[in-house]
Amino acid sequence: MLKNKDLLSLKDLSVKEIEAIFAMTKKLKAKNNPTLLKGKILGMIFEKSSTRTRVSFEVAMLQLGGHAIFLSHRDIQIGRGETVSDTAKVLSQYVDGVMLRTYSHKTLTDFAEAASVPVINGLTDWLHPVQVLADLYTLIEVKKKLKPLKIVYIGDGANNMAHSWLYGAAKLGLELVICAPKKDHPVKKVWNEVLQLAKKSKAKISFETDPKKAVQKADVIYTDTWVSMGQEKEEKIRLKRLKPYQVNQKLVDRAKKNVVIMHCLPAHRGDEVTAEVADGPNSIFFHEAGNRLHVQKGIVALLLNKKKRKQ
Ligand code: CP
Ligand code: NVA
Repeated sequence: MLKNKDLLSLKDLSVKEIEAIFAMTKKLKAKNNPTLLKGKILGMIFEKSSTRTRVSFEVAMLQLGGHAIFLSHRDIQIGRGETVSDTAKVLSQYVDGVMLRTYSHKTLTDFAEAASVPVINGLTDWLHPVQVLADLYTLIEVKKKLKPLKIVYIGDGANNMAHSWLYGAAKLGLELVICAPKKDHPVKKVWNEVLQLAKKSKAKISFETDPKKAVQKADVIYTDTWVSMGQEKEEKIRLKRLKPYQVNQKLVDRAKKNVVIMHCLPAHRGDEVTAEVADGPNSIFFHEAGNRLHVQKGIVALLLNKKKRKQ
């Protein structure tokens, strides 16, 4: 069971809770339970586009006997100025849980605070925890372990994926190198918190600006878009700045022979990753994407079966 009502950040989960999510995932992946969430309804609010998150949460709910309702922020009153907290209080009386994808992380935390039902972070500008849970689960399947593995995240070190990887690695005591230009160093607040957590878990967290150095002996190379949703105006300058951080075959050849290449998707072939690598033998992009469904089944199974908090 999970202690908190919500899943907003990996920072809030204990190692035991992450293991519990993975145990439930494994169980449901091996054999689905079509009545586990019978009658349960997940509301899903999206301020941003989505393929994987939207479809995998919806399918997860349906396969467990529940239902999901897609709510574009443009179509509900929140888009016309109804407050986040009023929306949370109203929806809490209709549905058993809400998944939110927002720009501002504060929108998510304000919503969770006002909601009496579980709230799940389906990506904010700050964090994307459900993606990293699926990534970690995929690594356990592929590499049979998370330690010792050298995991190198290359690209935008200040985005939601880099930050969630940092919290995940720091919690679980993993080795993680963030490789990015100085300008894209992880946000200070996250970095400082992560270094504190790492002291406890013995995680090896470091920052490196040179991709060639970073990938030496790497077991895992992870990348993500250089232009996250909401950063479209900075596209030109970002593509230029991050160009030396492309994951191409030459770079991959410097890592361990059996290195796996990961990406949360959507991928931009020719920018952060070449087509040769994305579609090559070391890529596990689609295994990773597939596991979004299974890990989110584990998450909703653990969160939505809890009793409602009083309003
Ligand atoms: N990786 C991920 O969250 O994909 P979507 O934006 O398609 O949901
Ligand atoms: N960093 C990317 C992740 C997409 C799943 C973005 O926020 O657009």
